[in-house]
Amino acid sequence: MSQQSILITGANNGIGKITAQSLAKQGAHIIMVCRSEEKGTKAKEDIVRQTGNSQVDLMLCDLSSQASILEFGLAFRERYSKLDVLVNNAGGMFGERKFTVDGLEMTFALNHLGYFLTTHYLLDALKAGTNPRIVNVSSEAHRPAKLDFDNLQSEKEYKQFAAYCQSKLCNILFTRELASRMKGVMTVNCLHPGVVATNFGRETGSGLMRFLIPIAAKFFMISPEKGAATSIHLATSPEVAKVTGAYFDKKKIRKTAALGEDMQKAKQLWDVSLQLTGVAEFGVVAV
Ligand SMILES: NC(=O)c1ccc[n+]([C@@H]2O[C@H](COP(=O)([O-])OP(=O)(O)OC[C@H]3O[C@@H](n4cnc5c(N)ncnc54)[C@H](OP(=O)(O)O)[C@@H]3O)[C@@H](O)[C@H]2O)c1
Repeated sequence: MSQQSILITGANNGIGKITAQSLAKQGAHIIMVCRSEEKGTKAKEDIVRQTGNSQVDLMLCDLSSQASILEFGLAFRERYSKLDVLVNNAGGMFGERKFTVDGLEMTFALNHLGYFLTTHYLLDALKAGTNPRIVNVSSEAHRPAKLDFDNLQSEKEYKQFAAYCQSKLCNILFTRELASRMKGVMTVNCLHPGVVATNFGRETGSGLMRFLIPIAAKFFMISPEKGAATSIHLATSPEVAKVTGAYFDKKKIRKTAALGEDMQKAKQLWDVSLQLTGVAEFGVVAV
């Protein structure tokens, strides 16, 4: 059997780095996607040193920029002919309403459109993979989310946590819709990693978040090793080889909030995402 190739976004830090490291330890060929060459190279060197697996590649991409994702998608096609597993993991929360280079609100653009567009450009490679899987890192934070299509980019009001919760609900709806479109071709699942002591929100969150997170980390949060466990399970375990369209927590399927099961909203979000990215459906790159 050929070596399994697994791509992880946001692989230089936190849950993504441990996911990459653990899968490298299992012998997979790892493709780390990071935005900073310096941080990515350092993390790659750590992973190679700690696992003894030299099959670890680094690709650069700013997942908040559609041009950068397109450039990455084209470079990936030049370099590789197939992909077995895609782990959409990179994400963030932002203290202030800010905009990407494409003029989109950052939380929605990075956390949802980043997953949507990256996946589109990698679908052909995944179709050429062996038993391909897509794993989307979502969150229990989806539960209080409202999905207001007139406020997807916080046009009416910006509250960092509400914007984050909505983006994590979008991860679930994207998972459900893609799973139904890819039935019999590949599996698509999403997960809550737990409340994990990482860099999350420490640099980009509001002053209050930056103050609260280290305190919470000390008392309530789990380690990145535990936080990566469900991503790793979904990426490789034979137990879930045939499961698709599901939300997992602690390696078990869990029911989402009712909105996370609303297939009409999932279809509407898909259509809006196609419009906002201008991507041709199913990974046809127009250049
Ligand atoms: N930590 C938790 O308690 C928790 C709970 C539920 C869900 N999650 C989810 O878990 C995922 C990983 O979070 P984490 O806790 O591991 O956070 P983290 O330590 O902050 O790691 C986030 C990763 O995403 C990367 N990233 C951020 N913006 C990017 C961009 N524009 N382009 C490319 N990469 C970018 C970061 O790169 P840089 O190092 O360059 O910033 C970093 O590698 C996120 O989707 C988050 O929503 C986390």
